[in-house]
Amino acid sequence: MKILFIGARLYHSVADYVHEKGITSIMSESNPDSPNLKLPDKVHIVPRGMEAPIELALKEDVDAVLPLIGIDGPLIDLGKMKDQLEEEYGIPVIASNEFSASISSSKKKTKEFFLKNKIETPDYQIINQKNASDFDNTSQIEMEYPSVLKQNQGQGGVGIIVAQNKNDAEDYFQKYDETIVEKYIKGYEISVEVLKWQEKSIPLVAVFKGETTIDGTHPLDKIKNAPADIPGLSNELAREMALKITNLMGSEGNTDVDMIFEPSSGNLYAIEMNTRPSGTRYLTAASSDIYPLHQMVDMATGDWDVKNVEKNLKKYFAIEVPVGVFKGPKTVPSSQIFNGFNSWVAHGPKNYERVTIRSENKKDLYKTAKNLKIII
Ligand SMILES: Nc1ncnc2c1ncn2[C@@H]1O[C@H](COP(=O)(O)OP(=O)(O)O)[C@@H](O)[C@H]1O
Ligand SMILES: [Mg+2]
Repeated sequence: MKILFIGARLYHSVADYVHEKGITSIMSESNPDSPNLKLPDKVHIVPRGMEAPIELALKEDVDAVLPLIGIDGPLIDLGKMKDQLEEEYGIPVIASNEFSASISSSKKKTKEFFLKNKIETPDYQIINQKNASDFDNTSQIEMEYPSVLKQNQGQGGVGIIVAQNKNDAEDYFQKYDETIVEKYIKGYEISVEVLKWQEKSIPLVAVFKGETTIDGTHPLDKIKNAPADIPGLSNELAREMALKITNLMGSEGNTDVDMIFEPSSGNLYAIEMNTRPSGTRYLTAASSDIYPLHQMVDMATGDWDVKNVEKNLKKYFAIEVPVGVFKGPKTVPSSQIFNGFNSWVAHGPKNYERVTIRSENKKDLYKTAKNLKIII
């Protein structure tokens, strides 16, 4: 079995697993300074874009292609590549097709998709040069405060603000040609990763990512835990919503759906969907014992069995803390695996490190955090 991996940055999370399975690993990477380039059997440094990986897949005669790409930019090209390699050459590509990538990477198309499919999402309006000129000036645009102002594209909160008054909104409109103005939901952020391959799909654990705040702090900077334990919210409801959206979009591999639960109304709103490995994958693995990236390897080898995932799905207690610079023991476990209870993994880019801990109960969790010099 030979797999072409696209992108080395996340490869350390699957390297041991790939090795154990006896898979020959070919890597396509555009950055010669990328980490993890020593881990695969063979590395090709190629120009950016999907042309070179397509050529490589054919030249190396691989059995499957597994993109390990955690950013939005290349997703549409990746979807095109999937459609081409699968249709013309019968080589499976563990990723979302062009259709779902084009929806998920546009917040506008995502909103339209939610509305069309009657999926609850916060009310919104689009303000652009054209309709803004219907007003004498932007201060006449009717808007509640606070309101969330977003751009069509972006991840990690880039280009998003919570406008608290007219001034904030006008400053923002000056900067951009078009804005999505979304109703601010005061509530709890939840996300659920979904695995889907061919006709089978399963939602993993409901992750709690913190409360929404009017200063617009992104969940990346908040303490998160799984499974979510929010009064009034059934985690099953969140898992069902994530599954429904994934199935409707037909996205494959590893995706996640972001939601906000509003306690005052009891509504669960879908915010967006990401058709790529998610930032919550460590927390998901710590809590459910299902490693989303390993699952993608199984999809590539043809060994993926949704029933096995369901059978092995655990509900361990897990927490993730953004620490910036990790000051815990020097000997960090190099494998990215949680080993029993009170195990932990430090991960993330330099100065933006996060530590994910798995425990049997809350008390142990605090003990482990204290041992690691993490303040919660
Ligand atoms: N309607 C909303 N109400 C309250 N907070 C929101 C709303 N939409 C987004 N946010 C906040 O902004 C963050 C980023 O928004 P999101 O649409 O998920 O974009 P990104 O792709 O940058 O993650 C959310 O995780 C949440 O904290
Ligand atoms: Mg998001």
